[in-house]
Amino acid sequence: MHVSVMAAEAMECLAVRPEGIYVDATAGLGGHTSLIAGRLTTGIVIANDQDAESLEMARRNTAEWAGRIRFHQGRFGSLADAVKEAGFAKVDGLLADLGVSRYQLTEPKRGFSFLSDGPLDMRMDQSTGITAADLVNQSAEKALADLIYQLGEERRARKVARALVRARPLRSTLHLADVVERAVPRTGRIHPATRTFMALRMAVNDEPGELDRLLATGPELVAPGGRMVVISFMSIDDRKVKEKFRQLGREARATVLTKHPLQPTEEEIARNPASRSAKLRAVEMK
Ligand SMILES: C[S@@+](CC[C@H](N)C(=O)[O-])C[C@H]1O[C@@H](n2cnc3c(N)ncnc32)[C@H](O)[C@@H]1O
Repeated sequence: MHVSVMAAEAMECLAVRPEGIYVDATAGLGGHTSLIAGRLTTGIVIANDQDAESLEMARRNTAEWAGRIRFHQGRFGSLADAVKEAGFAKVDGLLADLGVSRYQLTEPKRGFSFLSDGPLDMRMDQSTGITAADLVNQSAEKALADLIYQLGEERRARKVARALVRARPLRSTLHLADVVERAVPRTGRIHPATRTFMALRMAVNDEPGELDRLLATGPELVAPGGRMVVISFMSIDDRKVKEKFRQLGREARATVLTKHPLQPTEEEIARNPASRSAKLRAVEMK
């Protein structure tokens, strides 16, 4: 079972009411969803994810609370539809735990990881959109370099892009990792392809655009007195969440509950090193 990041902190900030209506915007394998569902009596949690395969697993993992959960497959831009389809106008709380799940990251056939060989896919929603293979094999070198520089914050992006273009067609995750490693040898602790993989994943899934849509629609969906909680893993994402929540505060549309972001305890980091970079921010709508 997937280990949910900052589970206790997320539940405390959401302050689930037994009769409330909640959205888990990133249900994944259903970890946070089941924690919310377990606190409900007559309430409902709408479990949303763009990944059909994950939602299927979430459905199995949360079977115990099936009566309190409505599943919805879609991106952040369709959250308003998810709420409407479930028969509600507003919700009492919305949780988003950004990025990819442990499952997506470690399942070779999804193509997110260079720890094992797999197709260059990286789409969270495999029913639509361009794959990482499309991107690396078809983009102009300059566009590829810009993308790796901006989204991956890779200083050696030009070198990486040049090597990728020369090595086309790139066939698999290990092939890509190998080409990057030859172009930019390891300097620190992290694998030299880490930033390139992150940039491709963010571009394939339009993660910056998705976060913008979440931050635009989320506050509109949450009723006065309800909470919005976002857990992010990258500093560029946390910065956006912080700015948006501050703006809601300035406009007197919400109270910021986390002046500083909450972070996982040492104990959680020891148990689940992947939680290390998590930052949680919350607001209460007015
Ligand atoms: C970190 S995991 C969530 C794990 C989950 N909270 C749990 O406890 O099991 C993030 C999930 O969000 C989904 N996701 C990421 N961006 C999304 C978006 N823009 N729209 C819908 N789902 C998204 C991913 O497919 C992934 O399953």
